[in-house]
Amino acid sequence: MCGIVGYVGKSPVVSTVLDSLRRLEYRGYDSAGIAVFNGHGIQVRKRTGKLKELAASLQHQPLEGRLAVGHTRWATHGEPTELNAHPHTDCRGELALVHNGIIENYAQLKASLLARGHRFRSQTDTEVIIHLVEEYAKRLPLPVAFRRTLQDLRGSYAVCLLAASDPKRLYGARCGSPLVVGLGRGETFLASDVPAVLARTRKVLYLNDQEAVEISAEGARVTTLEGKPVARKPSLVAWDVASAQKDGHAHFMLKEIHEQPATIEQTLTGRLGRAQITFDRRTNAFLKELSRAERLILIGCGTAYHAGLVGEYMLEEVAKIPVDVDVASEFRYRGPMLDRNTTVVAITQSGETADTLAGVKLAKEQGAKVLAICNVMGSSIARQADAVLYTHAGPEIAVASTKAYTSQLTALCLLTLSLGKLRGAIPAAAWRRYLAGLQEVPELVRRALRVEPAVKRAAQRYASARDFYYLGRRYNYPSALEGALKLKEICPLIHAEGYAAGEMKHGPISLIRRGWPVVFLATESPVYDKVASNIEEVRARKGECIVIASEGDRNIRRHADALIFVPRTEELFSPIVNAVPLQLFAYHVARANRCDIDQPPNLAKSVTVE
Ligand code: M6R
Repeated sequence: MCGIVGYVGKSPVVSTVLDSLRRLEYRGYDSAGIAVFNGHGIQVRKRTGKLKELAASLQHQPLEGRLAVGHTRWATHGEPTELNAHPHTDCRGELALVHNGIIENYAQLKASLLARGHRFRSQTDTEVIIHLVEEYAKRLPLPVAFRRTLQDLRGSYAVCLLAASDPKRLYGARCGSPLVVGLGRGETFLASDVPAVLARTRKVLYLNDQEAVEISAEGARVTTLEGKPVARKPSLVAWDVASAQKDGHAHFMLKEIHEQPATIEQTLTGRLGRAQITFDRRTNAFLKELSRAERLILIGCGTAYHAGLVGEYMLEEVAKIPVDVDVASEFRYRGPMLDRNTTVVAITQSGETADTLAGVKLAKEQGAKVLAICNVMGSSIARQADAVLYTHAGPEIAVASTKAYTSQLTALCLLTLSLGKLRGAIPAAAWRRYLAGLQEVPELVRRALRVEPAVKRAAQRYASARDFYYLGRRYNYPSALEGALKLKEICPLIHAEGYAAGEMKHGPISLIRRGWPVVFLATESPVYDKVASNIEEVRARKGECIVIASEGDRNIRRHADALIFVPRTEELFSPIVNAVPLQLFAYHVARANRCDIDQPPNLAKSVTVE
């Protein structure tokens, strides 16, 4: 969602902030703006649309200065217009602020500020923050006024404030939305996410909720909202700047699809041995305790929820643990019954998804333990959880999740197998077979990537269709949901729906007519024959079947209008391998339709509001 960048240092501030904002473009946005202190006062420039509009305007009429805050806005309150774009300023134009999140009590705050004579220019919730700072600063020093303001806010925020009266510092704070401090040599950043600062530094400070920070070119000072100093050691980010660049690929999504053999390998490294699975000492101890849990609840949103659905099949079938899976936004509101014997497994790439984070907090309040499967170190969910299985997939920039998903599935395989072993649920021969099978997965994914030309041909053949079904059974059912999500996410012209193939007859089949494309996942499984029958049912109604099948399956040819083979593997690992043609299919359909693949309209990478 919104991207924040604040910069204090010796480099030209406008190009530095623009460059960092570009590295946050993946978060999704619809307008952008910058405020610069030029030695005399604050100048603001905003544009609707993409950053290039703002950059063009700044090239035409440059702004120069010593420190700046920049923002990419994903509209929540008020349309994406220039007036609603950030930064917002106070009545006198001496303060400028950017914000990510939602201020839930903005209406009350706005009414009282209007009564005090403040003039509002936008329809945003954000604008109340800057007027409140202005109001408190009438009687308090600026840093105190800033922190006092934050205490009045309900909802979520990450903010960065620039004040003409204090031209050597920027002020930031967070509560429920991410904000990191990048500590460079003689320069300091505030940013929504690490990729924004990677080109300049790998040394970062992670802020906790309800913490404020003052940054200057020399460094940062973290405090509570009451102003009490907080000691915080910087962390060194393992990612480098190359991992957040396209590397010659047309899109980040394509690059990330092709990275999967390596990213899956990274998820396995140091954990999967020839005869055993181990984690660090703390996680091993946690899993030992977890193996005695009576029930697991897997929560997540979007793709992470689909990973959870795959996890349910794995954990129940192989580790013999009862599992529920919930969409995080439902879990938090359905009044789940939790206790000490339940462990909640929160699956999340970013570690910042608002609904998943709220689910984690709820679980902890009710005495349940929380394990996070997460990609981003230092993220909110990683810090709240009792234990974390990091997926180590590197930064995922494209809005559509690909490598993070297969790494989540890989982490779930590791979790399933180690819990199954601890619970004595896996016979010795099966254990050896599973371990050998999992070792092979990166290579199988590498081989699956070789089907790209065939997938591309199929994608081009069906690219003009506007409705797709995706069908599968057992492990292939969540894969079908994920395949459909990928397509509708990056190709907004298309309606795509995933179903359990057995559900077809209970409704959706009524829509099938000549030429309606249906993607079938028909890889090797105990329900293969049933899927083959479902394919025939679609063909009998003149639907077109694009079939993903296991290499060497001769029988399937007569059922398919387009056929894509993937390497054979244990059914347990098949969702990882099968994800590859589904991702590539969505990518090439979207490309044929000239869609904005990495930043689809209306979507954000990290959904930090409810
Ligand atoms: O960062 P998270 O894994 O918590 O994000 C959850 C979803 O927002 C995310 O998976 C979303 O569905 C992706 N854009 C899917 O490609």
